[in-house]
Amino acid sequence: MTDIVISGNMKLADIANLDKRALVFLPRFGIDLGLGDKTIKETCQTHNINVDFFLLMINVFLNKNYFPDRKLKNLDVGMLLMYLENSHKYYLEEKIPYLEKLIEVFKQTVKHPATKQLDMFFKQYILEVKEHLAYEDQTAFPYVAKLAEEMKNENVNLSDIDYHIGVFEERHDNIEEKLSDLKNLLIKYFPPSNDRYIRIRILYELADFEEDLMNHARIEDKVLISIVAQLEKNMHKK
Ligand SMILES: [Fe+2]
Repeated sequence: MTDIVISGNMKLADIANLDKRALVFLPRFGIDLGLGDKTIKETCQTHNINVDFFLLMINVFLNKNYFPDRKLKNLDVGMLLMYLENSHKYYLEEKIPYLEKLIEVFKQTVKHPATKQLDMFFKQYILEVKEHLAYEDQTAFPYVAKLAEEMKNENVNLSDIDYHIGVFEERHDNIEEKLSDLKNLLIKYFPPSNDRYIRIRILYELADFEEDLMNHARIEDKVLISIVAQLEKNMHKK
């Protein structure tokens, strides 16, 4: 699935059937399941989404070998930010609380002193994820929004902004990498206890979170950083 380039004439339901990652991707565009037999083009029309932008995003998200080309030029920055903010909302309001619940069940089910360590490790990790997301939501994205807004004006005024996308690029560490430590704690080091199925459930969820974060970071690296670097370049030409 991941090597197919998705086009506008494909049915969205087929994509969702073939690749489960599309299930978390669609709500970020405000698209809910109950897709019927509509093609991507038709669904985008219904939801007022630019189809080229949607195709660019879904291809980058599902296929790590896909490289966006010149299409980046006409990209709607507002829509890109909306998509990224919706992804963050999903992590903060859905995924992390669910993981927290599972860890709580684990703690209650498993009577082993090492649960304390696991809990601490997990909490520390979640704190780092939240800090990472807060930095993007409160610093990087507002900067991008302001830049896009100013570019529409004739007189660009960014004198009060001491920031550029290179700072974001440098700081953009991979939060998903630390997840592998957490996974290994459960796979390798936590001794066998009365936890067989809850441990598997947690690992499934961690692996799913890890994959989602990787695909998300790819959008930020390949789409957001490229488009903002381009905007900054144009701004200096003005
Ligand atoms: Fe992000």
